[in-house]
Amino acid sequence: MSDILTAPEPTRRATEKDFLPIRAIDHLEFVVGNAKQSAHYYRSAFGFKLTGYAGLETGVRDRASYVLEQGKIRLILTTPLVPDHPYQELLRQHGDGGHDISLEVNDVESAYRETTKRGAIGVQEPREVTDENGTYRTAAIRTYGDTLHSFVDRKEYRGFAPGYKAITKEDIVARPTGLAAVDHIVGNVGWNQMNEWVKWYEEVMGFHVFISFDDKDISTEYSALMSKVMASGTEKIKFPINEPATGRKKSQIEEYIEWYNGPGVQHVALATGNIIEAVTKLSAQGVEFLRVPSEYYRELQDRVGKINEPIEELERLGILVDCDDDGYMLQIFTKPVEDRPTLFFEIIQRRGARSFGKGNFKALFESIEREQELRGNL
Ligand code: FE2
Repeated sequence: MSDILTAPEPTRRATEKDFLPIRAIDHLEFVVGNAKQSAHYYRSAFGFKLTGYAGLETGVRDRASYVLEQGKIRLILTTPLVPDHPYQELLRQHGDGGHDISLEVNDVESAYRETTKRGAIGVQEPREVTDENGTYRTAAIRTYGDTLHSFVDRKEYRGFAPGYKAITKEDIVARPTGLAAVDHIVGNVGWNQMNEWVKWYEEVMGFHVFISFDDKDISTEYSALMSKVMASGTEKIKFPINEPATGRKKSQIEEYIEWYNGPGVQHVALATGNIIEAVTKLSAQGVEFLRVPSEYYRELQDRVGKINEPIEELERLGILVDCDDDGYMLQIFTKPVEDRPTLFFEIIQRRGARSFGKGNFKALFESIEREQELRGNL
């Protein structure tokens, strides 16, 4: 496989003591209205494999959860089954959306203690559950909006988590698309909130600013935003934080905040080792992507120089390209994956570049604005 599965070389902070060593993103939990049907969508369209289930049949009486995996990516889709489940209120407020960006750590107790000591709001104190599969340890803190970071230690546990049964029989829907890992997860926060959350990630999580973009980098006539990319100590985990900026009309971030009814996860970028193959399959399986005008491809070669992929193929699929000092990257964005204009996905292939596609912002935002216009939200 390509370079995407290897973490970039740690830079400046790596030598300092990291009070929150994170092994990996453990999983992303989405709260959805009908997990059974959503699971079918992520399997048949995105090519995830169903590997676990919790619900009435496994003795869980208040919710149903589906575990979906592809490469190193693990998604959990959960739907509440009873009226007083706390997720009902999340659904009422936000519709379907990302709720928990779960982090795998070696020491849950220490992760919870170190972050809450630095100001994090604790949502679940460290808890240890032992069953026939071993011991599973977890805790959770709150980040922006209703979003959580849970901490998971699964070193002594086989399987996903207590209450889940593994699905091992051959998947009836098996359409893998080559998605390999989570590259980054972006949060949208409200007006003037970005720097507060930057500070939160610095102080509470020990993260640092990896790159920042201001409204001069990222504005079209309408869709202005500001963004800072926060990275963990080893720079393995990256969480960009966006806030709206003033434009002539409504920023895409403002549209999100309005429809999600608060801050939340805007997009999840999934890395692949072959974006042409991945997007060909995803499109054939019904994933809808944003398109840019064909002029974008006329000037591409001049802007990014020589690349290994045929430009006509990229144009056919709508894949965007950008470069930085370390190389180039290819990316494409889906339309929102639910009826509210909120969460969407990015598919990304890095060929050296460590950046986030600044050179594509203009073309992309014009494309987003066309969609906002159709929704009456511009
Ligand atoms: Fe992104």
